[in-house]
Amino acid sequence: MKLPRNFFKPLAIGAPAPYRELPVRLERMIHFVPPHLEKMRAKVPDIAKQVDVVLGNLEDAIPSDAKEAARKGFIEMAKATDFGDTGLWTRINCLNSPWVLDDIVEIVGEIGNKLDVIMLPKVEGAWDIHYLDQLLAQLEAKHGVEKPILIHAILETAEGVNNVEAIASASPRMHGMSLGPADLAASRAMKTTRVGGGHPDYKVLADADGDNPRSGYQQDLWHYTVGRMVDACAANGIKPFYGPFGDFSDLAACESQFRNAFLQGCVGAWSLHPTQIEIAKRVFSPDPGEVAFALKIVEAMPDGSGAVMIDGKMQDDATWKQAKVIVDLAKIVAAKDPEMGKVYGL
Ligand code: GLV
Ligand code: MG
Repeated sequence: MKLPRNFFKPLAIGAPAPYRELPVRLERMIHFVPPHLEKMRAKVPDIAKQVDVVLGNLEDAIPSDAKEAARKGFIEMAKATDFGDTGLWTRINCLNSPWVLDDIVEIVGEIGNKLDVIMLPKVEGAWDIHYLDQLLAQLEAKHGVEKPILIHAILETAEGVNNVEAIASASPRMHGMSLGPADLAASRAMKTTRVGGGHPDYKVLADADGDNPRSGYQQDLWHYTVGRMVDACAANGIKPFYGPFGDFSDLAACESQFRNAFLQGCVGAWSLHPTQIEIAKRVFSPDPGEVAFALKIVEAMPDGSGAVMIDGKMQDDATWKQAKVIVDLAKIVAAKDPEMGKVYGL
């Protein structure tokens, strides 16, 4: 076990000091771009204005013979674009692949001062984070990178879920985690070919009632894993995200999956298709009615203690904290999006 006082020391001489608190950033959607395609790269300056995070994807969905082109394309688009306050992330290849070392070394060397977060796929345990943590510190020192590049893990193997708390607390470089339902389904031998979302056969059936048809309700296949991920992240002050939703034709199901994750504590999701950007924006910005009610609570209990009744509902120190979660998020949304600020009255 590392000594607490060493936990926040840079891992290489000359590397920037790790953050003690994560920078406050709105990250409702992480928008995936395949950077080997010139046509897609050309859209990035426009997309960057519409989303909270642009991610250059180097891993799955990029063909093996396009891995080098994707890396080069990502570096090119990162250099060519002014991202403003939009985050710039990349998803590198997994640690047992032949491409990952060049991904890390070339990207940090070329654009280390522009890159906010590296998304690391197929994380199995804290050892994967420690490896990347040390390597990043060496490269940051070598290239004079001024702020620490953060690590975002994808939770997408059974072993990773077993080790989720250790992953979340592995390093002050940890930014957060995303659920990876496709790889996780395969790793667990779940019997679904869907990328996220429900399954018509995963349901609870109502009791038999004579000859009346029995109703059944689909359950959320991902509830357990999202719950574990949210607790591990919240306990360590890092951010949980729902990951991909693969059926681009079913916007309602995508919205419902995103909303379940939001209500459970997630702060964002991946957008793999332009239609999912608006869904994520809507879902991961708090509901104006909830914000109005939360503001009433905060105003009625200025020091956050005591008990009051508002609209027939009991409020106390704990509900004040719940209200503060909503108000704080609304303020972050309003700071980025003045239209939403007006809707919230902030
Ligand atoms: C994402 O990477 C997934 O496997 O779902
Ligand atoms: Mg995956």
